[in-house]
Amino acid sequence: MSVSQKPFLAALGGQVLDRPPFWLMRQAGRYLPEYREVRRQAGSFVDLCLTPELAGEVTLQPLRRFGMDAAILFSDILMVPYGLGQRLDYLDGEGPRLEAITDAGQLSRLSADGFHERLADVYETVRRVARALPEGVALIGFAGSPWTVACYMVQGGGSKEWEKVKGFAYRDANGFAALIALLESVTVDYLLAQIAAGAEAVQLFDSWAGILPPGPFRRLVIEPTRRIVAAVKLRHPDIPIIGFPRGAGLMIEEYLLATGIDAVALDTTIPPDWAARCLQCHRPVQGNLDPILVVAGGEAMSAGVDEILRALAGGPFIFNLGHGVAQATPPEHVGQLAGLIRSWPERRG
Ligand code: CP3
Repeated sequence: MSVSQKPFLAALGGQVLDRPPFWLMRQAGRYLPEYREVRRQAGSFVDLCLTPELAGEVTLQPLRRFGMDAAILFSDILMVPYGLGQRLDYLDGEGPRLEAITDAGQLSRLSADGFHERLADVYETVRRVARALPEGVALIGFAGSPWTVACYMVQGGGSKEWEKVKGFAYRDANGFAALIALLESVTVDYLLAQIAAGAEAVQLFDSWAGILPPGPFRRLVIEPTRRIVAAVKLRHPDIPIIGFPRGAGLMIEEYLLATGIDAVALDTTIPPDWAARCLQCHRPVQGNLDPILVVAGGEAMSAGVDEILRALAGGPFIFNLGHGVAQATPPEHVGQLAGLIRSWPERRG
């Protein structure tokens, strides 16, 4: 099957397909018993990300059960700070912990020397998965956007208010710009290396885009994303780039148009009919079922799915969730979700 016939890539190229292709953010993960088994074998989460045999296996697990149209490399957005030499651990039930970079004086703790060596196993995972992909399935590479990665690097982990990273960005705009510039540069290298290893599309996750007011949003979300897209496109004009500016709200249209991304992923708050009129008229869109509807299942899930398909399946569209699959998701519900998407051409009437 030629690349242009892979439904996921066709939709990213602007084609309207009878049945929309689908994949799910965090489609590999703890809701799957077979993931939990491999995770246990690996020991730590970082070891799992850096063991190509195991990371490749968990990348492919959801496809075997549910037949998604795309696989997403199993790794994490925080492997970029790891590649820069920042200490990273994942504590059970608490999420990631990093040795926080609290001001510009601490940037010297980071170094791009050795970045590719530290992450060589990630590229090996991409090569392995690319060789093992089922027919018609595309492989997605990814990175976090500089802003979102900086959030974790400065805060030292997750946060509700993100006051440390916002404080640093507002107090010392130049110092913070140096961190963003470093992240921009290694993110370009990281995506190019994933593409060289076999990634056929890439997604930039900007999970915390939505915590910034418009001025900083332009400076710290739109501008770095625009420069990353331009640099990747210079080398690989044909590799589609999806942007996911979670929580961007009214800024999402400007984000789509100003960054040069090929498609935009919608979070759960974006009304599908608005997205059809104001975003899909420009570029393909991806999204945006509430992940908790997949935990709930049943009528609530199928009504949510149909609302999205009715609004968006008539244009270039990739079905996805508005955020990652939740840990409490019953795998059977994901199977039912896949069935609802597949049967859309008949159900549409
Ligand atoms: O299946 C896939 O989507 C591919 C793998 C993937 C993971 N994380 C695996 C993972 C991807 C694309 C990510 C992206 C990611 N990582 C984001 C952006 C998307 C989003 O969710 O907003 C962010 C913010 C992170 C950072 C991160 N990684 C956090 C905050 C956590 C802890 C919270 C949690 O869900 O555990 C992680 C850990 C993580 N990344 C897990 C997985 C499967 C769970 C770790 C485990 O098995 O113990």
